[in-house]
Amino acid sequence: MTTALNITSEMEKASSLIGGNSFANEVAQVRPTELLKVQNLCKVFGPSPAKAMEMLKQGMGRNEIFEQTGNMVAVDNVSLSVMQGEIFVIMGLSGSGKSTLVRLLNRLIEPTSGQVILEGKDIAPMSTEELREVRRKKMSMVFQSFALLPNRTVIDNVCYGLQVSGISKSDRYEVARKVLSRVGLGKYETLYPGELSGGMQQRVGLARALAVNPSVLLMDEAFSALDPLIRFEMQNELLRLQKDEQRTIVFISHDIEEAIKIGGRVGVMKDGQLVQVGTPAELIQSPANDYVRDFFRNVDVSRFLKANSLLVPVHAGGKIVCDESASADRFADQLIDAGAECGYVCNNAGKYIGCVTPASLRKAGQSAITNAFLSDVFPVSIKADLHELSHIALQQEHDVPITDENGGLAGVISCRAILKQVMQRREA
Ligand SMILES: Nc1ncnc2c1ncn2[C@@H]1O[C@H](COP(=O)(O)OP(=O)(O)O)[C@@H](O)[C@H]1O
Ligand SMILES: [Mg+2]
Repeated sequence: MTTALNITSEMEKASSLIGGNSFANEVAQVRPTELLKVQNLCKVFGPSPAKAMEMLKQGMGRNEIFEQTGNMVAVDNVSLSVMQGEIFVIMGLSGSGKSTLVRLLNRLIEPTSGQVILEGKDIAPMSTEELREVRRKKMSMVFQSFALLPNRTVIDNVCYGLQVSGISKSDRYEVARKVLSRVGLGKYETLYPGELSGGMQQRVGLARALAVNPSVLLMDEAFSALDPLIRFEMQNELLRLQKDEQRTIVFISHDIEEAIKIGGRVGVMKDGQLVQVGTPAELIQSPANDYVRDFFRNVDVSRFLKANSLLVPVHAGGKIVCDESASADRFADQLIDAGAECGYVCNNAGKYIGCVTPASLRKAGQSAITNAFLSDVFPVSIKADLHELSHIALQQEHDVPITDENGGLAGVISCRAILKQVMQRREA
């Protein structure tokens, strides 16, 4: 069975990756925003990569080149940047080159051409020794097949790499216990991998990768082998870790739902090429081609389209800033002059407090502006998704005020814009 073979080879790779001294990394460093940069990266598998590269330059396609020469262009001129603290998802159908790309990042695979720059340093000219250090301390990998050592307990799996680097037992156990509790496995340190469920085994895999406190975590389909519920939990766990620890993660997935759930940005691969990079909302709203669009065909994207990608600023005349007790009618002319149907009122502390119309202001007259607030306009959080917005749009006729984290007025979304999005999703 291929699984057994995979586990052995993944284990070998894994054990070479997790060595190293974790303490050196604990000193806080000022890092550049762009943590990992990939430039014009290519990988050709086969007997004559140079010939294949030449054919690529002449504009021939991947399949044609393979048929004529037996060379497989697995990664074709990929350039991308991964920012400090983001989860960058690489998504694509099986065979699109995702695993090859992620292995090029830490040079488990030699590139045919192109550059990988980690924390401002090109890793190409590095010696084998330096490269091993990079893999040990800077980029740790989590594998789909878990790749745990079966005859070692949970805690010894987690600190295997620390042990290889000669760190004392008490020190490495201290580190391992901390990471185990961070992934919810505090009570299981003395068990063996065979005694754990798949989800728990992958938590061990994650803990092992985190034990070296790497700059980048590389995860190749790390959750793909898990049952849907467990997978869902692990995705949430990863999001929590990233939020708490500002981890930089390159996450490979063939699953669009997973990609848009966890990816701050998603890069879509097709036939070895990176065809589009964007936030989930950008990919949904303006897919580069049919390949990207097709991924979303059976997905309820309303959860991923957030208010922040639909809102427009309130134009100057439509925003009223005043004290709660200010008298209403003095603002009516401002709205009429601005041609604004509604006014969105913020208090002097910058918080959104209500929505008015010229008519409601006139009616409230000299009394406080709060008396002019429409009772059927409700603000919605900037984090609300299309699903929530569509409920609101059905209940009210004015533009929906959108508030930011501090309760300030971030902008408005017209009910038309909301319903248009809903209709577009329906048609898709
Ligand atoms: N070691 C290899 N030798 C030859 N071809 C390979 C090798 N590894 C991958 N490939 C080929 O490269 C292409 C991309 O593979 P891979 O990166 O594994 O894709 P993915 O991870 O997206 O499924 C596939 O056509 C695959 O068959
Ligand atoms: Mg793969």
